Amino acid sequence: MSKEQLLEKLHALDRECNLLEKAAAVLRWDQETCLPELGVEGRAEQLALLEGIHHEKFTAPGTGRLLEELGSVSENPGGDEKLAPPERDFLKVLRRAYDREVRLPPDFVAGAARAEGLSQAAWVQARKNNDFAAFLPHLEKMIDFSRRRSLYWGYSENPYDGLLDIYEPGMPAAAIEAVFGPLKDHLNGLLKKITARPQVDASFLDKEFDTGAQALFSRELLKRLGFDTRRGRLDLSAHPFTTTLGADDIRITTRYILKDPLSSIFSTIHEAGHAFYEMGFPREIRGGCLADGASMGIHESQSRFWENVIGRSRPFWQGLFPVLCGYFPKELRGVQTDDFYRALNQVKPSLIRIEADEVSYSLHIILRFELERDIFSGRLAPADLPAAWRTRMKETLGVEPETDAEGVLQDIHWSQGSFGYFPSYALGNLYGLQIFEKMCADIPGFEEDISKGDFGTIRQWLSDTIYIWGKRLYPPELLKKITGQSLKSEPFLNYIEEKYADIYEF
Ligand code: CO
Repeated sequence: MSKEQLLEKLHALDRECNLLEKAAAVLRWDQETCLPELGVEGRAEQLALLEGIHHEKFTAPGTGRLLEELGSVSENPGGDEKLAPPERDFLKVLRRAYDREVRLPPDFVAGAARAEGLSQAAWVQARKNNDFAAFLPHLEKMIDFSRRRSLYWGYSENPYDGLLDIYEPGMPAAAIEAVFGPLKDHLNGLLKKITARPQVDASFLDKEFDTGAQALFSRELLKRLGFDTRRGRLDLSAHPFTTTLGADDIRITTRYILKDPLSSIFSTIHEAGHAFYEMGFPREIRGGCLADGASMGIHESQSRFWENVIGRSRPFWQGLFPVLCGYFPKELRGVQTDDFYRALNQVKPSLIRIEADEVSYSLHIILRFELERDIFSGRLAPADLPAAWRTRMKETLGVEPETDAEGVLQDIHWSQGSFGYFPSYALGNLYGLQIFEKMCADIPGFEEDISKGDFGTIRQWLSDTIYIWGKRLYPPELLKKITGQSLKSEPFLNYIEEKYADIYEF
């Protein structure tokens, strides 16, 4: 067989595996948005079967043979050097996925999928009933599956590193600690400066905002940002998320809280940022393994960029606040744009991560990272998590949850076995601002565009600079290509210092 024929066979296999992954994603999306409570067990069986079929197909001996015949081995994943760069990137990504998947026994894969479905459903109920004890057996199972997965991959020294590597290739716990340590000190210092200043008045938000009107405004917001509703949908879920069900079917979700209109606004913008990335992959890589983000950290850089750098900026609300007032004329009567801008940037250490301000947000993440690290090193037992959560929240942010529902049970990630994901959010903040520096240089008038509600130039820039690569480059390579540099905290710290010095006048 010629190289072209071998590649065509491998692409066909990749496309079929991708179809199976998307079919499983449909079932997961449905579980989080509309599955009736008692449908959970049947759904877990369906997912276990699909994951099993996917695993069997992807790890069949033929896949390994095709990769080898194209010169792709673990030491040289890109294969034959004469192949075109996109094909070498395709082989690199597929080899990495194959090397991991082939080490997992089939019954482990199906068992993990089944347990994840049940665990996630148990988490929804446990959070609703504030009942950590009911969730604990599922949590222990998720930790056990994650640990075993990492051991199969060969991370016997430190299983947590294997989990981190899923989301941020090449960033083990020690490398993340080296970034998070100074970041934590810096943010704590900034928090101190802010709390010493007169506080922002956000009392006009302390009332009920009809959730029906919130839903209408979320749709308006998406339209103005340029979200293509022929290729995506907005629905409701307990925890907002984005999932891709097909190249032209990208789903996002939000949630509406009667006394907190900002929650749905910023989760909608956040998820739209993820969706733009997923919608922006070039046609030639759609439907295959390269149609994915460079890493979850880079993915979160996109969502957090739209949410914070754009969505929490002054120019953004100069354009949009009058529109929001149209939806809430009574509630926002007499409020000036600048009052609203300050209120939505109020810095106030609080219990819930996804509603946290930009200064304390990364501290929420660092806390979760440290807890995960301690669980996988055996220093912290899962049963002790609620107490550890309360103590460390008090130490880190000076607040302590009264219930586990607003403490250790607040996030969906652990219920899905996604240990190692959390650092992506804080890394995303750093990547996002480093990339933003370059954007500012390339698009001098972007602030005026934002205030006019014109996001086309910014989206085009992101598309040409980031989306176009899909998963072809690892994060350090992508960052180097865009900024010429490696990961740095300074752009984020400079941005946050300058922004909050203006708001809190120090
Ligand atoms: Co996100």
